[in-house]
Order: sequence, then structure tokens, then C-alpha cells
Amino acid sequence: MLNQNEFTGKTVFVAGGTSGINLGIAKAFAAAGARVAVFSRSPERVERALTSLRTLGTDVLGFSGDVRDMSSVQHALSSTSEAWGSIDVLCSGAAGNFVAPVALMSANGFKSVMDIDLLGSFHVLRAAYPFLTKPGASIINISAPQASIATPMQAHVCAAKAGVDMLTRVLAMEWGPEGIRVNSIVPGPIDGTEGMARLTPTPESRQAVIRSIPLRRYGDISSVANVALMLSSAVCDYVTGVVLPVDGGASLAGPGLFGAPA
Ligand code: NAP
Ligand code: COA
Repeated sequence: MLNQNEFTGKTVFVAGGTSGINLGIAKAFAAAGARVAVFSRSPERVERALTSLRTLGTDVLGFSGDVRDMSSVQHALSSTSEAWGSIDVLCSGAAGNFVAPVALMSANGFKSVMDIDLLGSFHVLRAAYPFLTKPGASIINISAPQASIATPMQAHVCAAKAGVDMLTRVLAMEWGPEGIRVNSIVPGPIDGTEGMARLTPTPESRQAVIRSIPLRRYGDISSVANVALMLSSAVCDYVTGVVLPVDGGASLAGPGLFGAPA
């Protein structure tokens, strides 16, 4: 049964939690009474996120750093645990994206996204491990449809997010015996986000995506955040290693969702 108070006083850490979907997740946990720490590169973004999280009346912490830099990730996680105790919910969602065909992508362009999305996720998961609540922690990795749908102009994201989902599955096995659950959420096209602004920059491209979604609309940030809460709650205490689309059925539509080559 869903317990309305189960997140009160819990410690939640959201990597990349200062804008878009990840900030929505941070806000949902804060609204549910959890203490929430967020981490991202821009100190201004961290400050803005903290200002909006504080209005929800809970304890908040913010750290500026880069998921590509293990020491900044370690610092943020150890400081959070020092302040509030072990980490009950870890959400890893920092990511980068741009639209480019492989033929026009530099090695450094490919590497940037691999380093942020995949190596960055490893850094967050690995650095958090000593501080996770055992048993009981819930880890949510934020994946993307590109992890399982071959998508032109998205080779870097496809490769990186496929790796993220495999980390989810492997860690569900490695850390399951300690009572840590690890799941991926796969958001579909979500309204008002940087990700979709980059992938569908014109009204025409947006409409083309909407036509391919069974529910015929973009999703809301709150719909993804609600599933993060659900997966972390006791109602899902036997759910681990799952890669869960929150996408209005978009993953049923097959390849090319975010744009075929011209
Ligand atoms: P967003 O608003 O750009 O959020 C990305 C967040 O990650 C920002 O807070 C950003 O803050 C942080 N970040 C980026 N690079 C970082 C780095 N190197 N180190 C630390 N933090 C970093 O994007 P979004 O569209 O909401 O996407 C959020 C997540 O959902 C991503 O994992 C994305 O792949 C996934 N997703 C989104 C959609 C969608 O419809 N938007 C669909 C599928 C999956 P700083 O710039 O301050 O670092
Ligand atoms: N097309 C082709 N290559 C691109 C590109 C584009 N649109 N945008 C960036 N690159 C390349 C750069 O040219 C550079 O390669 P080079 O050194 O060979 O020229 C490489 O990517 C790194 O770019 P840089 O801007 O130095 O990286 P960064 O670490 O500052 O930023 C990005 C990383 C590129 C992913 C940046 O877009 C970002 O920070 N994104 C975060 C927000 C986001 O993407 N949100 C959506 C999440 S789904």
C-alpha cells in the first residue's frame, strides 16, 4: 500500500538535478517531504534550483561539479551523507545531447556524450555506493529511448544510454543481495525540456513526433517524476533491474522517432 509519509526525512540525491526532468524529480521528492541534494555544473543553475526547492519547505543542498570529474562527484555525495546520513534514493540523470550524423561528429563530440552520460553515470553510482542505505536504497538511472531504438543523428546518445541501461541491470544483480534496487526510467518526448528543444526544434518536427506517439501528445515532467517516486516507494520493493518507459507508448513506434536523416 502506498504510504503518504514514506519519504519524509529520507535523503535523496539527484545528479543533474538542476533543470528539466531531473529537477522535476527533485521537486517531487521534496514535495513528498524528503531532504534533497542536487548536483550540476553551473553554480547559477544550482542556486536557482535550490531557490525553487526551498519553497517546498524541506532541507536542500546544492553542489556544483561535473559528473565527468569523479572527485567532484565524490565530494558532493560524501558531503550529503555527512549532513543527512545514508542516501535512500539516488537519481542519476546528468546528460548531454546534440544532433549530428556520425560523418560530421568529431571523436571529441562522441566522447563528450559518452563521458557525461555513461562514464558520468558510473562515477555517480560508484561514488554513491559506500553511502547508500543498505538495505533499502533505490537507484533510478534516467535513460532514453535511444538506448534501444537505433536513432539517426544520435549515435553517441544511443551508445551511451544503452550502456546506462546495462549498468542498471548489472548493478541490480551485484547490489541486489545488499537490498539495493536499481532501475532505469526511459522518458519519452517530454514537454518543455532542453532535450526535446534540441531534438525537435521546429513546430513541424514536434508535430511529426506527436503523430508517432500512441497517446498523441508529449509527456509532462510530473509524469516522469511520479514514476521515480513510485519505483522508489515500498509498493515497488520487489522491482529491480527494470528499464521502464514513461513515453505514452512511443517506444512501440519503432526507429526514427527523433528524426530520420534528411
Ligand atoms: P536538461 O534540462 O538539459 O537537464 C540536464 C541536467 O544535467 C542539467 O541540470 C545540467 O545542468 C546537468 N548536466 C549536464 N551535463 C552535466 C555534467 N557534465 N555534469 C553534471 N551535470 C550535468 O535535460 P532534460 O531534457 O530535462 O533531460 C534530463 C534527462 O532526461 C537526461 O538524462 C536525458 O537524457 C533524459 N531524457 C530526456 C528526454 C526529454 O524529453 N527531454 C527524453 C528522454 C530522456 P548543468 O548544465 O548545470 O550541468
Ligand atoms: N554538432 C557536432 N558536434 C558538436 C555539437 C553539434 N551540434 N555540439 C558540440 N559538439 C562537439 C564540439 O564541437 C566538441 O568537439 P571538438 O572539440 O572536436 O570540436 C565536443 O562536442 C564537445 O563540445 P563542448 O561544447 O566543448 O562540450 P561541453 O562539455 O562544454 O558540453 C555538450 C557538452 C556538447 C553535450 C553540451 O551540449 C551540453 O553541455 N549539454 C548539456 C545539456 C543538454 O544537452 N541537455 C539535453 C539533455 S538530453
